[in-house]
Amino acid sequence: MDRREFIKNSCTACLSATVLATTFSSCTPTKYISGVLGKDGLFLDVNEFVTTQNGKAAYRSFVIIRNDALQFPVCVYRFNDNEYTALWMRCTHQGTELQASGDRLQCTAHGSEFDNKGSVRTGPADRSLRSFPVTVSNNQLFIDMRAI
Ligand code: FES
Repeated sequence: MDRREFIKNSCTACLSATVLATTFSSCTPTKYISGVLGKDGLFLDVNEFVTTQNGKAAYRSFVIIRNDALQFPVCVYRFNDNEYTALWMRCTHQGTELQASGDRLQCTAHGSEFDNKGSVRTGPADRSLRSFPVTVSNNQLFIDMRAI
């Protein structure tokens, strides 16, 4: 195998791996909900995370709350029955709305990327995303937004 063929084969393998990884990480379509806006924050049912995969009950890793009363959506990640994060989907670099992709939030403006806890993975953003306290009670999540 000559150098040119090796490079061509390597690039094809890398591209295939990237496409497959993207495909598998996005098997479950993103779920958008409006939540219920109360005086101090948002309420949503924990069942919003329930889905089916291969005929079995499973949990989505996140849902996105889009509510007309909010300037930006809130991405809620589920880690287990009692652990969630609620992240304001506004890039901390220059304020562009973020896109959720698996366990990452990405900014299409200049390429910043954040993890599912809101920490910067890739700049130019240099500050974590704004996050809100989440409490779980009686199968309901309450996202405390008093700090907006
Ligand atoms: S506004 Fe998001 S990276 Fe610049």
